[in-house]
Order: sequence, then structure tokens, then C-alpha cells
Amino acid sequence: MADASESLTVTDNRTGQTYELPIEEGAIRASALRLIKLNDEDPGLLSYDPGYIATASCRSAITFIDGERGILRYRGYPIEELAEHSSFLEVAYLLVSGELPNDQELALWVDEIKHHTLVHENIRKFVDGFHHDAHPMGILISTVAALSTFYPDAKDIDDAAKRRLQIVRMTAKSATLAALAFRHAMGFPYVYPDNDLSYTGNFLSMMFKMAELKLKPEPALERGLDVLFMLHADHEQNCSTSAMRQVGSSRPDPYSAAAAAVAALYGPLHGGANEQVLRMLTEIARPENVAGYVARAKDGKRRLMGFGHRVYRSYDPRGRVARQVADDVFKVTGINPLLETALELERVALSDDYFLSRQLYPNVDFYTGMIYQAMGFPVDMFPVLFAIGRMPGWLAQWEENLLDEEQKINRPRQLWVGHGIRHYVPMGHRAPYAGTRLALQAASAAPPRPGR
Ligand code: ACO
Repeated sequence: MADASESLTVTDNRTGQTYELPIEEGAIRASALRLIKLNDEDPGLLSYDPGYIATASCRSAITFIDGERGILRYRGYPIEELAEHSSFLEVAYLLVSGELPNDQELALWVDEIKHHTLVHENIRKFVDGFHHDAHPMGILISTVAALSTFYPDAKDIDDAAKRRLQIVRMTAKSATLAALAFRHAMGFPYVYPDNDLSYTGNFLSMMFKMAELKLKPEPALERGLDVLFMLHADHEQNCSTSAMRQVGSSRPDPYSAAAAAVAALYGPLHGGANEQVLRMLTEIARPENVAGYVARAKDGKRRLMGFGHRVYRSYDPRGRVARQVADDVFKVTGINPLLETALELERVALSDDYFLSRQLYPNVDFYTGMIYQAMGFPVDMFPVLFAIGRMPGWLAQWEENLLDEEQKINRPRQLWVGHGIRHYVPMGHRAPYAGTRLALQAASAAPPRPGR
């Protein structure tokens, strides 16, 4: 039994029995609750935690967040220091390998990534099949999943060298896939990777190169985007990372797991928020409209996109760095006209008790959208940019999960709130059910989908 001071004493008032549950690393094991039973037939107590508010799903050594104090560190290194001194590929190396590289290791890593930026020509044909207005996140989910069919060796997840190869491939190719999605939507010819450029410079070239022989990225934009990729590179057990671990726990290849992670990122409450922030600021349009919009958010009619975070209960440290990036980028691009509205929104919200009492502060997405827009990215590419940045984090977390001997296939329990046993009722004997009838009527009244 653990030291009594490192334990939790629980009395089950149904039976009067007392249990001592060890506390390790600030947690009790939920499985210890299974010992708490009414009688021998009772399977034992469960913990109920929708949204995983107070449940740790793993032990991790990758990313540390202290939400109360606004701290974010990758492998122990503060995000502010990395953003100032490092590069996206160096941070990617740090996340997946655990240490900062020396100069030779970094040179080798960068070289490896550069040599895996091309995608199979069939992927291009596959992208051609999407409708011209397909959302690029839909294309990215599909193409990341499709990579699994091109690399059957990726299934060999117990082979460390093969795992590393997939990590390199995916870090390299996610930027290429993202650019393909954009060029397809624009009807522009696809641009092949340019190995003379940095990772981020090459991405800008694949996005924006037109008839010129070579695109020379504007240094402030290249550095700004590289910093934003670093800010997004990992964020412990968020929704998309949990999806990566969850799917990875059934041990498919990492492309299949990463496609699930991109899908989870797509939602407006997660990586889709940066897109929604821009749409919200565009809807508010002018600083004088902010007060009315904020009032509607307080009524619960809408949320202020880019505000609030499950973990940060103070300023999102990435937001501070992103503001600095915004200043640097706007010096080159000119100020995004939405900035004035954004600053007014921030001012109004942060002087309002509704937001302060709920600890709702601007998160990283509040600023990134305006920067991406000033750089020339269309709004629906914003979550795609997030996905490029997050890829190394997903991969590091996927591998950590695989190598963690305590991990099993993820399979949560449920609290049953449905019917007891019911016996099948033949069709003519069923009572009319208003809900079903209404659903059918609504479906028959729905307008036809535009021909596509
Ligand atoms: N605007 C207005 N009210 C909000 C907002 C918001 N952005 N976020 C939370 N609230 C309110 C809720 O209505 C709730 O109020 P109540 O207690 O009166 O019911 C309270 O704050 C707590 O909200 P929850 O939804 O329980 O908080 P949770 O931790 O589950 O949600 C989330 C976190 C999803 C990020 C939420 O704050 C949100 O929807 N924000 C807007 C979307 C966004 O910016 N997402 C990006 C997150 S950062 C990232 O993914 C990189």
C-alpha cells in the first residue's frame, strides 16, 4: 500500500466500507474504483467524465501546459524561446526525438524531409477528382488517408526504422498535400517542391508560385509562418491528438490515424476556429458593431470564436507570440483592416465580467487568422495551415502511445440510460411516433441539392 499521505480515503456510503486509493503523479487510477462494489456481482464503480474534463488518458513527456499560469513547453523548452530562436523543422525534430538536434543531426533531418516532399502522381489525379469548391480540409483528410495505400510498409508499426520513415514522409508531405488542395481549388497548375528553399519557403512556393521561374519568399512572411507552425506543433492531449492516439491504439498505419486527427481538427471548436474567427470579424465588420455582437455572445446565441480554451484559464501564451508575428507581418503586408475590430473585440470582452468570470481570454486562433489573411491565404486554408504545423506533434504522440506498455486499445465505458429489454414489434402493431413522422416530413420538404 502506498504512503498514507499519498492516498485518497473513500467511504462508500452505500455499504459503509472504506477504501484507500493510491495517488500517483496527482492522479488516482480510475481502475482502482472498480474495487468499490456493492456486492460480488457488482462490476464496481466507474468514473463518468464527458469531455474528459478531469481524466488523464496517458502519461506523456512531450508537451507541458500549465493553463492557470499560461505556460507551454515542448520537451521542457518554453514556447517563447523556441519561437524566438528555433525553426519549425528543428521543433519537429525536438518533438519526435525528444532532444534538440546538434548541427549534423539537424542538417540530416532537414535533408531527409526535403527528399520526401514529393507525392505520388496518382495523388494529384486523386485530388483532381474533387469538386472545385471542395473544402481543403476535406481534401487533406482524404489525401492523408490515401497515403496509407501508397506505403503498405507503414503497417509495420513495430519496426522503429519504418516508423521513423513514415514520420519523415508525413512531416514532409503534409505541406505538399495542403498546397495541392489550394491549387486545385484555384484551378492553378500544381507546383513541384523546390529543395533550394526552407520547409516553409518551399510551402509558400508550392502555394503561390505562378509564371516566375522561382519564387523568392518574402523573409518576414517566411519567418512569420514558420513561427506560427512552431506555435501549433503540439498541444498535449487536445481533441485531434486524442483522435490520433485513439485511432492509433487499434494499431493501424499512422496515415490512417493522422487522417482521423485532421478530421478532428476540422471542427469549428478546434482547428476550424481560426477560420471562424475571420468569418466572425468580417461579419462584425466595424469596431462600433462589437458591443452588439458581444451582447449576443453573452446571451448564449453565439460564441466569440477565438476566445476560451479548455486548459488555459489565462492568456494563451501562443497568442502573445502570434501578436508579435502579426506586427512583423503587417509591417510588410500592411495592417489587416480587421485588426481594429479585433482589438476592440478583445478590449470589450476583457472588460466584461461574463468573459472574466469564465476565464475566457483570446486563444491563439484569435490572431492567426488575420495574419494568414494578410499573407494571402484564403480563409478555408486556415485550418489546413494548423494541420501542417500540428503534424509533428500528432506523430510524436502517436509513437509515444505505441511505445507505452501501459496503453491498450482505447475503449471507454458508458453509463447506460436506455431501455431495458424490449421485444420486437411487427410493423402493423407499432404505435405512431411523432418524432419519426416529423423527421420524414422534414426530409421530403428539404430543397434538392444543387447538381454536383
Ligand atoms: N464565447 C462565449 N462564451 C463562451 C465561449 C466563447 N468563445 N467559450 C466558452 N463560453 C462559455 C460557455 O457558454 C459556458 O458558459 P456557461 O457556464 O454560462 O454555460 C462557459 O463559458 C464554459 O464553456 P465550455 O463550453 O464548458 O468550455 P469548454 O472548456 O468545454 O470549451 C472551447 C472550450 C471549446 C475552446 C470554448 O471556449 C469555445 O467554444 N471557444 C470558441 C472556439 C475556439 O476559439 N476554439 C479554439 C480553441 S483553441 C484551439 O483549438 C487551438
